[in-house]
Parts: sequence; structure tokens; C-alpha cells
Amino acid sequence: MDVIEIIRAKRDGGELTPGQIDWVIDAYTRGAVAEEQMSALAMAVFLRGMNRAEVGRWTEAMLASGDRLDFSGLDRPTTDKHSTGGVGDKITLPLTPTVAACGAAVPQLSGRGLGHTGGTLDKLESIPGWRASLTAEEMRGVLEATGGVICAAGTGLAPADRKLYALRDVTGTVESIPLIAASIMSKKLAEGTGALVLDVKVGSGAFMKDAGSARELARTMVDIGNDHGVRTVALLTDMEAPLGRQVGNALEVAEAVEVLSGGGPADVVELTVALAREMLAAAGLTPGGNGVKDPAEALRDGSALASWKRLIRAQGGDPDAPLPVAAERRTVLAPASGTVTRLDAYQVGLAAWRLGAGRARKEDAVSFGAGVTLHAKPGERVQAGEPLFTLHADEEARFERAAQALEGAFGIDQDGRHEAAPLVIDRIA
Ligand code: URA
Repeated sequence: MDVIEIIRAKRDGGELTPGQIDWVIDAYTRGAVAEEQMSALAMAVFLRGMNRAEVGRWTEAMLASGDRLDFSGLDRPTTDKHSTGGVGDKITLPLTPTVAACGAAVPQLSGRGLGHTGGTLDKLESIPGWRASLTAEEMRGVLEATGGVICAAGTGLAPADRKLYALRDVTGTVESIPLIAASIMSKKLAEGTGALVLDVKVGSGAFMKDAGSARELARTMVDIGNDHGVRTVALLTDMEAPLGRQVGNALEVAEAVEVLSGGGPADVVELTVALAREMLAAAGLTPGGNGVKDPAEALRDGSALASWKRLIRAQGGDPDAPLPVAAERRTVLAPASGTVTRLDAYQVGLAAWRLGAGRARKEDAVSFGAGVTLHAKPGERVQAGEPLFTLHADEEARFERAAQALEGAFGIDQDGRHEAAPLVIDRIA
């Protein structure tokens, strides 16, 4: 095969054959196709797109580049969730133990945060003793014992994606729907789940800023999953405002525990229950019927919380230990009275990042206690002089730039007008 011919074919808007795709992904992973050639191909795909058959094959080729986990011998069906990432998105934390408490097994491979969105592993690592790195045997052991496991993806899963993602990151080719879909789905298929629910975020704090592109990404990923024998469903959910009131690692763990204890913010509860029902249904279980507990009931009756404690202990964590707290706090007051009409998720994520909750480079450490507490969310009333948000950081010097990030993030309407948008915008099956 000739890589230049493949680049030319896509550059000119042609369809790549299965043989060309298999060859180019394999040769690139082995180092036989040069970085500059793969950059050119990634840009050609970015500009010309790929059809359903091409994206499916591209995903399969990346999947075939590494290991594939197999949980087929478990005594219950497996089901997982993937979120495209948002601000305050701690949903995996209450969701995994809730679905486990309702009778499915959740093998969840998660990542660390980079940029303005947080990573599930960073959040969980704020729990004293909790360990993200497990061998495949340990992962299976935890899953069998507790019904859930959340851990770091090993380097053996979809190594072609690891290499290609790093290349896309420096060549302006990340924001391509077929390349994003193949990247996410190659990792999710490698994880060996039988069913998958995708939470595709839309809005200022999300990768996809408009519903049209989010819907297209969701459709592409749902088709790849179903074409490969994994029952896949997507929910399009709102990410104009952050989820919940806490943004930052330990702050979000504390909020997740509130939800698991039957309380917590309404939006976090609503999304946890909606995704849990979809995950159970995709796994062939009927929530609230045939002896399967409904997720809302599991949150109310303490079984989801007990499941969380089992999960955390199984990975070395102490679920009852105090969580890290930032050394410094600064509360900013509302400048005017009225109803909060808007709260920009991206700006809140940026502020949390500047406070130390996120990292600029992969190798940076995060501050577990850093973040933002939101005292008012869209639809709520505030009085001038009441607390609007609190910043948490280990060094006071971080407050000024974080507060700048939040300038103009809140819209406050003195006449009290606010039109609530639905949290779940659409469902794609
Ligand atoms: N997340 C991924 O895993 N891959 C992408 O391409 C984009 C987001």
C-alpha cells in the first residue's frame, strides 16, 4: 500500500477502502507511516469527513491495535457510561455505585482532567488511599466483588488512538466528528462492556457548543456501538451551566456523596437517575420492574451509598476519611438583586482550573481541595450582598485570576425573568 495514495484519495473527497484503513492505522502505530503523513491524512479527514462504513472500520482498526478486555463470564450484564466532558460533571461518582446497586456491573475506564474539564480519576484520588491503577486481574476482582470498578485505562488499550490523539492535539484536527467518535468508541469497545450510554454534552462548557454538532457526534457513536454488537444509546445534555454547585476534585466528591445519601442538587440527581435507567435498560434490565430496583429508590434507601463505600474500599480508599480542604477561601458577593438567568460553565471551569483544580500539562499535579462553590444557579434568586460564589485554593495568589475568569459569568435579571432549559435535550438510539 502507498500512504501518499491514501492521503490523496481522502484529500480529493474519496472513500477509503477497509484495506487502506486497516493498513494505514497499523503502519502508523508501528512507526512505518511518518507523523507528517498521518498529519496530512488527519487534516484530509477533518476537511472531507468519513462515511459510516469508514468511521466504523477506522474504529475497528484502532481497537485491533491493542488489547480487548473480556467480562463475558460475570454473573450479571455489563453496562457503562461515557461523558464527552463538562464542568462539575461528577456524575460517574454517584452513577457507578447506583447502577451496581440495581444489579448490573459497571467496568468504567476513566481519564484525568486536562484544561477546563475535570477528570474522574483526579476526583477519586482526593479520597485518602484510593488507587486508580489496577491490573486487568484486579479490575475483574473488584468488579466481581462490588459490581463496579473505576480505574485508569492501561496503555495496552487502543494504542493507535493514544498516538493519533497526541498528533491531532498539535495539528488542529481534534474537532473532527468522525475522528472524535472513532477515538472514544475504540476505547469504549476495548473495555469489553456489553452496553453503553453516552452523555454528549452541549453548551459553553462542552466540547460541542451547539446541539446540531452534538447530535451528529452522538449519532455517529451510537451507530459505531450498535454496529459492533454493543447496545448503545446517547443522551444530549445541557452544559451551558455547570452541574451541581461544586466544581473541583474533593468538592465534587463531597457533592456526589450527598447525592448518594439521598440529597444533593436536583440537576445532579436528575442526570444520575436518567443515565442509570438508560444503562440498566441497555443491559436488558427493567428499572423498577422484574425485581430490578429503580435508581431513584437506590439513592433513597441507602443501597447506592453502601455500594459506593464497597467500591471505594475495594480500591484501597477510606470512604469515611475527611476529604482534603484548600488552605484559603474567598467569597464573592452578588452585585445586584434578581434572578440568576445565566451562568457560563466554561468560565467556571476556567476559574477552577486557575485555582489549581486542573492541570495545564499532563504531568502536572492537581490541588484536591481547590475549586469553586456556586451559591446561586440559574433560576434562583439572589439579594445584593449575599454570597454568589466561593473560591477555594491553596495559595491566595490564585484568587485574582480566578475571579477575573468569572467576570460576567453570572447574568442577574432584576425583573426575575428566567426560562429554564431542559437538562436532557434529546435521546438518540
Ligand atoms: N475524547 C477522546 O477520547 N477522543 C477525542 O478525540 C476527543 C475527546
